[in-house]
Amino acid sequence: MMLEVKKLEAGYGKLQVLRAVDLNVGRESVGLFGPNGAGKTTLINTIMGIVEARSGDIVLEGKSINKLKTHEIARAGIALVPQERELFPGMSVADNLELGAAFVPRGKAVIKKQLEMVFGLFPILKERYAQLVGTMSGGQQRMVAIGRALMAKPSLLILDEPSLGLQPSIVAEVFERLAILKKEVAILVTEQNVRESLKAIDRGYVMENGAVVLEDSATGLATNPHVISAYLGI
Ligand SMILES: Nc1ncnc2c1ncn2[C@@H]1O[C@H](COP(=O)(O)OP(=O)(O)O)[C@@H](O)[C@H]1O
Ligand SMILES: [Mg+2]
Repeated sequence: MMLEVKKLEAGYGKLQVLRAVDLNVGRESVGLFGPNGAGKTTLINTIMGIVEARSGDIVLEGKSINKLKTHEIARAGIALVPQERELFPGMSVADNLELGAAFVPRGKAVIKKQLEMVFGLFPILKERYAQLVGTMSGGQQRMVAIGRALMAKPSLLILDEPSLGLQPSIVAEVFERLAILKKEVAILVTEQNVRESLKAIDRGYVMENGAVVLEDSATGLATNPHVISAYLGI
């Protein structure tokens, strides 16, 4: 198993957010759905060591990582595309991508290969290599953020609401790319746009009030009455 989250609990001060969360990601693409405030970002940030786990365990490729610091978790093989983009707008596409590789020490050959992979996935980034990121559209900036995470050659890529704030046509494109990317890297993606993301995932979890309430295949979720009425708006 790539990632195993076991009975995970976390929160902020007196507020308990995560309640005994169990979640697994294999060599596949997994969605994490749920309304605003459900605890999706808290779960992601606890996996990344940004929020402290209160109890439970987080296991990456057989090794417990819940005592590691964020940069150690990155080195262990997880890359995060956060909900807020955290790019460097005054720097070029090239420099932003290079920084993604700088967080995790890899050989030059690996970096070159990852760069080719990112350019293959998002050809626009090759065309706009020298452009300052701050002058690009929201959709292109999201591609830079995903590309930057991939430069670390992660074994697990976590994306927190990649469609947030994007136009529908760009959202469809981002999920198209993720559907291709899942052949190269395990993916965990949180989303409010359940309809679009179902095209790019194999399985998914639904989280409400900090607890997992449902787990099923993409087709199972697409035909589940609760998912249809609460998230697919039919
Ligand atoms: N830094 C924080 N400090 C205190 N409470 C927070 C913080 N971040 C999130 N919360 C609270 O934790 C709960 C879960 O939020 P979050 O994990 O962001 O949910 P989601 O990503 O599913 O929208 C919400 O009640 C939110 O208000
Ligand atoms: Mg969130």
